[in-house]
Amino acid sequence: MANSPGLPNSPGLASAPGLANGPAANGVGASGAAPSSLTVTGVDAGYGSVRALEGVSLAVSPGQTVALLGTNGNGKSTLMKCIMGMLRPSAGAIQAEIDGKTHDLVGRTTEEIVDLGISLVPEGRRLFPKLTVEENLLLGAFRRSARSAIEQNLDSCYSTFPVLRERRRQLAGSMSGGEQQMLALGRALMSCPRILLVDEPSVGLAPILVSRTIDKIQELKEKFRLTVLMAEQNFNQAVRIADCGYVIVHGRIAFEGTSAEELNNNELVRKFYLGL
Ligand SMILES: Nc1ncnc2c1ncn2[C@@H]1O[C@H](COP(=O)(O)OP(=O)(O)OP(=O)(O)O)[C@@H](O)[C@H]1O
Ligand SMILES: [Mg+2]
Repeated sequence: MANSPGLPNSPGLASAPGLANGPAANGVGASGAAPSSLTVTGVDAGYGSVRALEGVSLAVSPGQTVALLGTNGNGKSTLMKCIMGMLRPSAGAIQAEIDGKTHDLVGRTTEEIVDLGISLVPEGRRLFPKLTVEENLLLGAFRRSARSAIEQNLDSCYSTFPVLRERRRQLAGSMSGGEQQMLALGRALMSCPRILLVDEPSVGLAPILVSRTIDKIQELKEKFRLTVLMAEQNFNQAVRIADCGYVIVHGRIAFEGTSAEELNNNELVRKFYLGL
């Protein structure tokens, strides 16, 4: 991803779900807080003369896991960047509904978007390799409402990912790929998100770790009552946990499947996406 967010500016960083922060503070797992939703309508975006997204519309309903499926260079990360305020669409709208309030995201800064309760686990994880596991996690607790509950959030993060507690003093760059992916997920949770965006969690992982990572995303969604949009190339793994999904081809939504079954059985998906 040529334009990927550096860590210091990354949404994942600016955002840490206050795991223990409670609904009032938009905390992750906020008991009683209704899950949030995300709507993208007619978004066009690009880089100079390169048009990367054309008329993209999708909906992530409250509490759903939605898969954004597409092979290399089709616009998945570009859409993630637009949602996080890292790239401004040239047309269209992006709205999040959180705690009954609708927020227009276009025109807001990444920090504001994180503060609303939206967090990104960026493609390639974007950890600080020379900082420890714990230091990386703390960088995720940047969100205003998460700062006051850092200790509880860290604790909650360590109980969700016991391996991170064991390795808290280890340099992030010396962790295995699977452990680094857990760290990237943990860091995103440190800002208490209500909507979690995950960009290609399977990249660079062995098949068994891909499977564990995908299972973990599902577990996090349930535990913290998140709404999840996950970009993936790994169709079979993504549809295991997706409630529904979209296939993106050359920057346009080529197919919308309202259930995993529909995605699995659709001829267009097989042709466009799986090349069958
Ligand atoms: N910073 C950039 N400058 C110019 N073009 C870019 C930039 N970032 C992405 N693109 C182009 O935009 C298009 C969509 O790229 P994007 O990274 O969104 O795809 P993707 O689906 O995330 O791919 P991948 O699976 O490889 O991560 C591609 O044609 C890509 O070359
Ligand atoms: Mg990408």
